[in-house]
Amino acid sequence: MKHTLLRFGLPLLATVAMAMGCKRDKTQTALEYMPNMYRGPALEAYSAGPAEYLSNAQSALLPPQGSVPRGYEPYGYTNSQAGYDSALAYLRSPHTVLVDSLRNLAADSLRLAEGKELYAIFCTHCHGEKGDGNGTLVQNEKFLGVPSYGADRLPNITEGSIYHVITHGKNLMGSHASQITAEERWKIVHYVLKLRADLAPKPAAAPSDSTQTEA
Ligand code: HEC
Repeated sequence: MKHTLLRFGLPLLATVAMAMGCKRDKTQTALEYMPNMYRGPALEAYSAGPAEYLSNAQSALLPPQGSVPRGYEPYGYTNSQAGYDSALAYLRSPHTVLVDSLRNLAADSLRLAEGKELYAIFCTHCHGEKGDGNGTLVQNEKFLGVPSYGADRLPNITEGSIYHVITHGKNLMGSHASQITAEERWKIVHYVLKLRADLAPKPAAAPSDSTQTEA
């Protein structure tokens, strides 16, 4: 008796279970074993959500007014001549403050190395590796009017104005705010200042020992 049940009963049970699993509509599961495993409580993006929670019946809602994305840093200087002038005069790099106060020079050279990499990605093709305004796009005459960073061409620029120009762009140069984070922009600013210093004409007879005090 026990044997017969095993031999016929079990396959019969399996066949019935499988048959119950079949349904005409192939997009729907007929029988779900532990439905919670298939259907999580979270709403699918852009699906119609339960009307009792969502007034417009869409699960992907606009963020509440006034909310800011994570990592977003507001930039108060407007995209105008007045904004440029203010940034040039008042905006200072957080790194300058840090380097001045902590003499954190090792970290500073690391930032410069990162700034160099970022500059190579975003600026070299116009401004040139040395910042002399002679990038490949200029050499191929695809883009003109790119200034050298040297004081002869741009006597007044400051770290603030460079940051401003990367953020908002200037005339033919576009804004890079969407591609480069605030932190990365400051790293590039410091690298541009380094290129600017390298472009400056070297004084002919600079004293080699700067530790010596004047008599
Ligand atoms: C598509 C070419 C192009 C790219 C890419 C580009 N620039 Fe420029 N940049 C220009 C041009 C053209 C000007 C001159 C704008 C003007 O004054 O009319 C300029 C001007 C500048 C100035 C001087 C602005 C002033 O105060 O007069 C700075 C500083 C500068 N760019 C930095 C950068 C940095 C840093 C990057 C990379 C993040 C960059 N640029 C990427 C074309 C470019």
